[in-house]
Amino acid sequence: MKTSHLCAAPSVSSVQSIGPVVAEAADLVRQLSAEGLLSAEAAERRVGEIARELAATGTYRQSEQELLAGTRIAWRNNPQCIGKFYWKGLEVRDCREIDAGGGAESALFEMLVEHLRLAWNGGKVRLLLTAFTPAEPGRPGPRVWNGQLIRYAGYRRHDGSVLGDPETVELTEAVLRMGWRGQGTEYDVLPLVVQWPERDPKWFELPPDAVPEVRISHPEYPWFEDLGLRWHAFPTISNQVLDLGGLRYTLAPFSAWYTCTEIGARNLSDTNRYDKLPEVARGMGLDTSRDRTLWRDRALLELTAAVLHSYDQAGVSIIDHHFATKQFVRHEERELKHGRRCPADWSAIVPATSGSTTPVWQRRYEPTKALPNFSPHQVPWAAGSSAPGAVVDQ
Ligand code: ARG
Repeated sequence: MKTSHLCAAPSVSSVQSIGPVVAEAADLVRQLSAEGLLSAEAAERRVGEIARELAATGTYRQSEQELLAGTRIAWRNNPQCIGKFYWKGLEVRDCREIDAGGGAESALFEMLVEHLRLAWNGGKVRLLLTAFTPAEPGRPGPRVWNGQLIRYAGYRRHDGSVLGDPETVELTEAVLRMGWRGQGTEYDVLPLVVQWPERDPKWFELPPDAVPEVRISHPEYPWFEDLGLRWHAFPTISNQVLDLGGLRYTLAPFSAWYTCTEIGARNLSDTNRYDKLPEVARGMGLDTSRDRTLWRDRALLELTAAVLHSYDQAGVSIIDHHFATKQFVRHEERELKHGRRCPADWSAIVPATSGSTTPVWQRRYEPTKALPNFSPHQVPWAAGSSAPGAVVDQ
């Protein structure tokens, strides 16, 4: 007698491999119930249903509620993020249906472009994550190679120096090998490299209207504009896996607004990024011959002030680090009221400048690793390695 595929008893090996998935799925569903989103009975019924679906198919499909509420909790659990006060405001766009079998990279790319347009929202940046189809047993799941959907190229010159963003040198070299050609400016937007499992990656140029940028000027120094600094309007992290209820969403780009220090006190000023402090200091007429003049500190402050001013002028959402850290402390207190700890990594929460002037400086945090959560992807062009460079710095 032939047993139908769906009713076949699962083999021992598949039972072993689904075991942890069932356990994580059950944890998620029970957590949603503990947070008041479904009754205890409904949760137990759902756990049974998931276990049966897993035994029959090797995977399961999460409900809209599991995806939405679970993704919000994954954010709340992430120790790196200062913006978690708003965790309930995260919107989740469900693109799980985009066909993996057909392997149309362009369909995926279109959805990513739409993600950028939705997140941009005319400058009032939205907290938005798009979930694409998760990995399945034996099928790794789609991904993009870019650390963020919008990032600038970094071209390594013969003398070892870099034109553009040194952070993306390896990705830039990879896309150049794939035949992409940039303009050769300091702010060339990288193409998106989209990859379906078991297929070659394909790159796509982003349409300019999906890449809003802000030119940096200073409220008091007219010369500042001539430095030609700019940055993309908001970040969209795309190299993190969303680990949710035993499923791995390998492509789940997450957009939010910036804190001014991320741009002014890191991206444009780190010596291994755009390294612009010497130029700013020269414009300010500071003595850069000795560290003791504190020219770096003064330039850093004015650059960060310029970033905040420029985003405000352009009508683009951005927050300052004082407000951000106050909100973070409010979040911690609110979590405590709900009987929860707030997983946090002190070094990621304390802002890159003026740390001691913010309320988080005096506090201590546990970087507890709780599920659901986000975890860094392996670097795609060095398959098999998980180089630390893959982690997007907060
Ligand atoms: N630090 C990263 C950058 O400068 C972005 C990390 C996420 N930041 C955020 N505000 N959501 O691009």
